[in-house]
Amino acid sequence: MNKDLVTISSLSESEIRELLVLTGKLKKSPFLMGEPLKQRTLALLFQKPSNRTRISFEVAMTHLGGYTLYLSPGEIDMGRREPPKDVAQVLSRYVDCIVARVYAHDDIITLAENSSVPVINGLSDRAHPCQALSDIFTVLEKFGTFKGIKLAYVGDGNNVLNSLMIACAKVGLDIVTATPRGYEPTESIVSEGIEIAAKTGSSVKVMKDPFEAVRGADIVYTDVWVSMGQEDERDKRLKDFRDYQINEKLMKSTEKKTLLMHCLPAHRGEEVTDVIDGPNSIIYDQAENRMHMQKAILYTLLAKR
Ligand code: CP
Ligand code: NVA
Repeated sequence: MNKDLVTISSLSESEIRELLVLTGKLKKSPFLMGEPLKQRTLALLFQKPSNRTRISFEVAMTHLGGYTLYLSPGEIDMGRREPPKDVAQVLSRYVDCIVARVYAHDDIITLAENSSVPVINGLSDRAHPCQALSDIFTVLEKFGTFKGIKLAYVGDGNNVLNSLMIACAKVGLDIVTATPRGYEPTESIVSEGIEIAAKTGSSVKVMKDPFEAVRGADIVYTDVWVSMGQEDERDKRLKDFRDYQINEKLMKSTEKKTLLMHCLPAHRGEEVTDVIDGPNSIIYDQAENRMHMQKAILYTLLAKR
């Protein structure tokens, strides 16, 4: 693996498969490797709030024998108190790895380029690679294969979708997206996904109609309509996404047993109704798997170096 995990694009298909295998082993046996990261320190540099990402990384690092340092949004005040370049240089002198959750994707790139220790993207406005890796692990856990499985993503073409699309394409899982006009996933990422899918024998399809997208889907996936940092656009977004809610009617229209995924946090009554609390929802498995996957990522980036 490269020094950093900024986007899924930097991972080869075989690196992803190795992470999936290790994640499975660690889920079965959480202390499998003893304490391979003993006396190592992980900094968690967060510009936005978090439940899953922060806590799953903290617990993962603890299980591996290391320490974590949580740097809350006001703590370092990156970009205002000092530039990302200086933050990267200084933190590299103290800690062994940095997980950063930032607004601007460019900031995570700057952190990675200027730090001598691995930098892991814990969500930026463009990507959420740890979420996507955990999610494809969850799919594999449920179906035992990626081949012939169809995932339909309905909602905002955001950071979560960008990463999910590339992860699906790399492992050969078919993905189709339905997003309203003006909220499509990043164009260059769609092209990249289509190109990768052609090689792995899968497909990436982008459309507008949610009912068309979910037809025959094994999994329906959604995320919030208003991401962190977009609160000013809330009223407009709630209107624009009105026809993209995951509800009973949409889930029934797949005409098969379809699992429901959501990276969480979920806003019931907005992007999803209480179908998220029904028997086909696998949201808490997804959340749990963040920890197992991130343990595999930390081990691979740190213990093997
Ligand atoms: N899914 C996810 O990243 O959750 P948090 O924002 O709580 O970390
Ligand atoms: N798209 C959401 C994901 C939260 C995990 C956001 O960026 O806020």
